[in-house]
Amino acid sequence: MTTNGRISPATRWHRMPDPEALVRAVTQRIIELAHTAIATHAGFRIVLAGGSTPQAVYRELVDASTDWSRWQVYFGDERCLPVDDPERNSVMATHSWLGQVPIPVSNIHPIRAELGPEAAASRYASVIAEARPFDLVLLGMGEDGHTASLFPGRHLDVSGNVHPVHHAPKPPPDRVSLGVEALNDSEEVLILVAGSNKRAAVQRWKTGATLPVTAIHGHRGVDVYIDAAADG
Ligand code: 6PG
Repeated sequence: MTTNGRISPATRWHRMPDPEALVRAVTQRIIELAHTAIATHAGFRIVLAGGSTPQAVYRELVDASTDWSRWQVYFGDERCLPVDDPERNSVMATHSWLGQVPIPVSNIHPIRAELGPEAAASRYASVIAEARPFDLVLLGMGEDGHTASLFPGRHLDVSGNVHPVHHAPKPPPDRVSLGVEALNDSEEVLILVAGSNKRAAVQRWKTGATLPVTAIHGHRGVDVYIDAAADG
């Protein structure tokens, strides 16, 4: 979070030498957080991100030793495409991870994005209202500083659980996204940033620019896992 244009101490940067180290560190942290949440309140509510960096983490989670029946899985955003389209975040997460572990299907809460942005957002708003607060929100960041499907250059509605999104600059144009308020209602937030194409946005973030990603602070700050290429 930024205060008077300065980065608050609540943004904790974890610099990793390469994407592989980043993926290992994030996977390990997710497993630790799940373990703690399951031990303290018998359940782990996680919100997933789309994108290639999170996908590498999902592949690693297949081998986690955990009680999958205690996980409740939500999505931070979804692309409005047919239900089995490989470009959907839910399909990516299922193929990479969820379809390969014994998690009950009823514990996975996809966004019904095939219904279109408005209908899907309105349905998912009730799901999210019951799910909050989360134990963990996972996010990626695009090279323009977007996170989930909250893109720069448009009004950032900080209230409300879930928003329909039109004309997104990253395809497809129609999407559904959790809003800032819902993404911030989490004990932990991990933001994954890898690749040299993210460097300019990281620079802007570190020098206090306001970007969609800088609106996310969770209950007690965010942990940004960044590789050397993105950190410059
Ligand atoms: C999506 C996302 C999006 C993503 C970032 C980073 O559906 O596209 O949820 O916010 O996380 O664009 O994606 P990469 O890790 O692929 O750069």
